[in-house]
Amino acid sequence: MTETHYLERPDNRNLRQIPGDYGLPLIGNALSMAANPLKFCDERFKRYGPISRFAMGPSHIVLALGPENARALHLDVEKNFSSAKGLGHFESLIGGSLIMKDFEAHRFQRRLMQTAFKKSSMDGYVDHINAICAAALRPLPGSGEFHLGDHARSTLMEIAAQTFTGVTSQGSESAKLKTAFEVFVDGFTFIFPINIPGFRYHRSLQAKKYIAGFIGELITEKRHNNDGDILAHFCRELDENGQYFSDADIIENFVLLLFAAQDTTTASLVNACLELGRHPEWQRRLRDEARALGKETIGQDDFEALPSYSLLFNEVQRLHSSVPLFPRRSINACELSGVEIPADTVLMNAITYNHVMPGWWTEPHKFDPDRFERGEHKQHPFLFAPFGGGAHKCIGMHFAQMVFRIFLFHMLSGHEIQLRPGYDPELQYLPMPKPKDNLPIRLVPVD
Ligand code: HEM
Repeated sequence: MTETHYLERPDNRNLRQIPGDYGLPLIGNALSMAANPLKFCDERFKRYGPISRFAMGPSHIVLALGPENARALHLDVEKNFSSAKGLGHFESLIGGSLIMKDFEAHRFQRRLMQTAFKKSSMDGYVDHINAICAAALRPLPGSGEFHLGDHARSTLMEIAAQTFTGVTSQGSESAKLKTAFEVFVDGFTFIFPINIPGFRYHRSLQAKKYIAGFIGELITEKRHNNDGDILAHFCRELDENGQYFSDADIIENFVLLLFAAQDTTTASLVNACLELGRHPEWQRRLRDEARALGKETIGQDDFEALPSYSLLFNEVQRLHSSVPLFPRRSINACELSGVEIPADTVLMNAITYNHVMPGWWTEPHKFDPDRFERGEHKQHPFLFAPFGGGAHKCIGMHFAQMVFRIFLFHMLSGHEIQLRPGYDPELQYLPMPKPKDNLPIRLVPVD
């Protein structure tokens, strides 16, 4: 009898032998996990240890906590963990992209992105990013209060339209494209895939169709011109047989970029501004470094002279991980932290919990970017891993940090971030961590 291929097999739901519980009927542990994954993981860790079972709606999942389990799932030396099946929920939105491919199929597609994220290619994006951030941040509306979450998101959508596709901000084309990007990304919060007009999931599929049509029309032209945007690099990339990648590969990986890049980087900026508002001494430190450069704009070669920006980025990712959890599915039975895991079991590691896990960090919940100068994160290679590791490690990690630094450089060079007096927001954790009210701030000019 031939064995069914792992991609064709259903999830294993029988986890009774693993410590844990499935929460409430129908919804399982979904509410407590979504309300505060850090608290949820901490309670499970203290009660059941690093491996426990839980349920999110109909899915039965193993929570595999701690840096050692992160290493096992990310490095996957025995090729036993599938990213494609771990992310099966998103099949219809990003199913054709590299994050949902395993092993050889993944390696083949990752090549499509390699040139777009080389340092030399990224130098080509810097002028656009500087210009968009400077224009978006310089004269903010009457220095009154505004919501940084909305402002950062629309600025990043503008950056995506220009650096990802080469479309400039003039004209209705750009506005339509940015709206489609936003609608597509919003769809990823669906619980049930209800493909009926009026539902977010349906709107997201429609937006994907629009984006696919728009991108599809540009491919042939971009293969033969010298454009320097990310799509142009995708279009000109050759596979290992010297052939262009198919239009479908280009489109699927382009839409993945929107999902992977936009809200993750927006959340980093929003949470950075929250922490900077609470810690004005860090604003001064960043401003002093920026002014010492004596420049109007910055590029990758200036980043070494801005060390506090890197410390801040790391501390923001540690306290407010943009990707709080990452999933995989086992292919064969295996063992994690001494517990038997059956084949076809969905597993999750909580990056966000590893970043504050008891026993590793001094005062884990305190904002202290200098802990990275002291090397606290170096105790284990997967203790601090906001961008993952192994074959699926974030390909846009330098791009994200470039946007983060340039945005804050323009914001802080001439302004101070002020929060409302006594501001203590309610936080949302999933799908992205940020204040629920989108962070109202004021930018006050400083000499
Ligand atoms: C603060 C911002 C970001 C964070 C924290 C982040 C984090 C991550 C993580 C943890 C993964 C691995 C997921 C896994 O192993 O299952 C990942 C993958 C990925 N990221 Fe990012 N990301 C960020 C921004 C970006 C940006 C700006 C881009 C592109 C412009 C990007 C593109 C990707 C892609 C394409 C993948 C899939 C890689 C693969 O499967 O080989 N990310 N990201």
